[in-house]
Amino acid sequence: MFNALVLEQQDKKTIAAIKPINLDDLYQGDVVVKVSYSSLNYKDGLAITGAGKIIRNFPMVPGIDFSGVVHFSEHPKYQVGDEVILTGWGVGETHPGGMAEFARVKGDWLVPMPKGCDGLKAMQIGTAGLTAALCVQALVDHGITPEQGPILVTGASGGVGSTSVALLAKLGYEVVAVSGRSSNHEYLKSLGATQILARDEFDIDGRPLDKQKWAGVVDTVGNKVLATALTQINYGGAAAICGLAGGFALPTTVMPFILRGVCLLGIDSVYCPYSKRLAAWKFALDNLGEDYFKQATTLVSLSDVEQQAQDIVAGKVTGRVAVKL
Ligand SMILES: NC(=O)c1ccc[n+]([C@@H]2O[C@H](COP(=O)([O-])OP(=O)(O)OC[C@H]3O[C@@H](n4cnc5c(N)ncnc54)[C@H](OP(=O)(O)O)[C@@H]3O)[C@@H](O)[C@H]2O)c1
Repeated sequence: MFNALVLEQQDKKTIAAIKPINLDDLYQGDVVVKVSYSSLNYKDGLAITGAGKIIRNFPMVPGIDFSGVVHFSEHPKYQVGDEVILTGWGVGETHPGGMAEFARVKGDWLVPMPKGCDGLKAMQIGTAGLTAALCVQALVDHGITPEQGPILVTGASGGVGSTSVALLAKLGYEVVAVSGRSSNHEYLKSLGATQILARDEFDIDGRPLDKQKWAGVVDTVGNKVLATALTQINYGGAAAICGLAGGFALPTTVMPFILRGVCLLGIDSVYCPYSKRLAAWKFALDNLGEDYFKQATTLVSLSDVEQQAQDIVAGKVTGRVAVKL
């Protein structure tokens, strides 16, 4: 038996409690991992508080990502003792996740621990950091260079946003952050943002086209904030979009797309193919300085997760939260 955070439903309410479970309770994958760290992502917050319909079958162990050491393997690529990372694939949603001392998953879902990384760093980056790397890489692949102008990052204080700010600044882009929290301005500047704009300026019913300001956008918020950002993207620019912290609607018009050739680049980290995943981990590790790991992440234990989950859903968490098992 080992400890796990277990979510159950009582009277349609989600209840979280640390409980002993055993390996037979887990998904029948071909690799068992002794989990070192998990991390708290927005989706975990929705699952643990029950604020979003992330989990359909209860009881469930949350935790959409984890790092750890292989404890048992029937997969040809992994041997006992190998360090591995998991993000996505429905783990912590439809299969028991990383907020447990052990996880059992398909070996094909894992990636080997990259060179220069360790279990803690991997979860300081976690799903949110990997998604930030995919967003920034998408803008780079679209041909957007630092010379073309600033990049706007929305939801900048959050996990994806803060990591995007740090990555873009390291790559030499001018970064303008959009945040609803004036208390985080200094923090965002310390990560590399040169200017912070209030979320209220974007959370409006704007015009179909506005003055061109941004070479690209990383959007984690959706809804009116994204719609306003789209009206301000330079001719030929793009928005890498991954999130819905402000809602899943997109109240826009065709104007930015047909008159300025603006592109929407949709980003998904959950089912991202293996080779792209490996490249994104390398990209994140190559471009996140030691400062990022000190400034942008908080370490908590399993017993703190429920409170942290409430905070992330309320938009009160800054940066990344890693969970030590
Ligand atoms: N596509 C994928 O594969 C993928 C992967 C990871 C995450 N995501 C999504 O990306 C989004 C961000 O994830 P995360 O882990 O970075 O979450 P997070 O840490 O909670 O960050 C979200 C940020 O958005 C802003 N925000 C919060 N509530 C808002 C509201 N009502 N309206 C506008 N802005 C709001 C806040 O930043 P400020 O206070 O600075 O404004 C908050 O810190 C989530 O929707 C998540 O589901 C998608």
